[in-house]
Amino acid sequence: MPKDRSEKVRVTIDGRSIDAEKGKSILEVARECGIEIPSLCYHPGLESFGACRLCVVEITKPGWEGWKKLVTSCLYPVEEELIIDTRSEEVRENRSVVLDLLLARVPESDVIRQLAAEYGIHDTSYTKREDADTCIMCTICVRVCDAIGANAIATLSRGPDKYVDVPDKDACIGCLACALSCPTNAIPFEEFVNGKRKIWGREFDLVYDEISHEPIGTPEQIDHFAEKSGLPKEYFLKSDKVRKKETAVTFARVQF
Ligand code: FES
Repeated sequence: MPKDRSEKVRVTIDGRSIDAEKGKSILEVARECGIEIPSLCYHPGLESFGACRLCVVEITKPGWEGWKKLVTSCLYPVEEELIIDTRSEEVRENRSVVLDLLLARVPESDVIRQLAAEYGIHDTSYTKREDADTCIMCTICVRVCDAIGANAIATLSRGPDKYVDVPDKDACIGCLACALSCPTNAIPFEEFVNGKRKIWGREFDLVYDEISHEPIGTPEQIDHFAEKSGLPKEYFLKSDKVRKKETAVTFARVQF
């Protein structure tokens, strides 16, 4: 159901009174106001999923007689009179447990190590996973691939053995959306000087902008985006830089 963003609600975040758009999540509102809440599975272009639980905050209301509860801020919508604490002792403790567990899951992840250190955790108190990669199963890669329409990535297996992969290598268009949106850089890719890109064990050709000679993407990616958007393929055969420059020139002509 579409979010109703026409109404405003008054909330308090870390002591600041804020007029927030109804329908937005606590995380969205906090970030708009420059209040940082750590997150790993949230992506502004995707529906929130609530997988990592790092974005937990404490909420209460004037009528709750001092009662408070922890909620997942990327999923919880702002409400009138909500009082939100993003840094309480409870919040920090909860996040510490999450990070301790994540550190056991991906002990080699620099991102998780750094985050954990910010919460005073320098080594996990749980058993470390052996042969671990740096995937935390946030599923952003699956969701972003789904959103752009290639639908190539899936979660496989169950429980602690669950992992992400591309079951049908031909379905991947080599666009890098998954790798570039992964919060722990768990999806390796390579771009070679000889005009190739390698990701998910498959090698792709690269198409270059004729003017700037910058790599634009793979032929599969360009065909896919042209078909999905209904825009002419030529539109995708230009780099962002060249497209912006052309727009600027067009505007300049219109102005004079
Ligand atoms: S960012 Fe909210 S649960 Fe992961």
